[in-house]
Amino acid sequence: MKFFIDTASLSEIQEAYDLGVLDGVTTNPSLMAKEGIGGKENIFNHYKAICNIVDNNVSAEVIATDLENILREGRELAKIDDKIVVKVPMIKEGVKAIKQLSSEDIRINCTLIFNAGQAIIAAKAGASYVSPFLGRLDDISMDGLALIQQMVRIFDNYGFETEILAASIRNNLHLIHCAEMGADVATCPLSVIMGLLKHPLTDSGLEKFIADYHKVNSEAVPV
Ligand code: E4P
Repeated sequence: MKFFIDTASLSEIQEAYDLGVLDGVTTNPSLMAKEGIGGKENIFNHYKAICNIVDNNVSAEVIATDLENILREGRELAKIDDKIVVKVPMIKEGVKAIKQLSSEDIRINCTLIFNAGQAIIAAKAGASYVSPFLGRLDDISMDGLALIQQMVRIFDNYGFETEILAASIRNNLHLIHCAEMGADVATCPLSVIMGLLKHPLTDSGLEKFIADYHKVNSEAVPV
């Protein structure tokens, strides 16, 4: 399973990268706005700065909703760096753009997926990734994890190469269930990635090991 971090914060991306388990980054216009990044030049420079931190897979979202401008923006974003994956929304013009841009070897992440039908269309159009937003489905009392399971089954039936990128992940259980179900990628905030490390028995166990060591060793912990 690939781990992406869902943020536009350079310090958070660096912290996750330093852990050694990060495979990519997803951003969206809301996350860019949260970091105060506005204006085309600043936005493009920020994507480049993200690409300079990680090894691959930096999702950068188009703003346009008409075909001509989705294509233009998509091509411009893809030129920033080979690591860029262009994020295109699940709308009719977006599907046409996915078909065209993927034929130009531009990798696409189709975003704002909320049902399996949308995922099938995006996969058939040639998206490299489809992003079901499971937390937002949970928010409206629908079962986000059930969608992941359904998508995994459908994609397996037909051997689709498109990867299922579970998005809008809010907690560790979401991530673990996605892994159980076979999602190819999970994108989540830094707090969820770091939360995976934690268990109170790990902390208390380590504290006791160190205390017991000091009972019979007066010198500091060996280097
Ligand atoms: C994914 O690519 C999106 O940026 C993200 O996961 C949305 O998450 P949210 O529902 O927490 O905003």
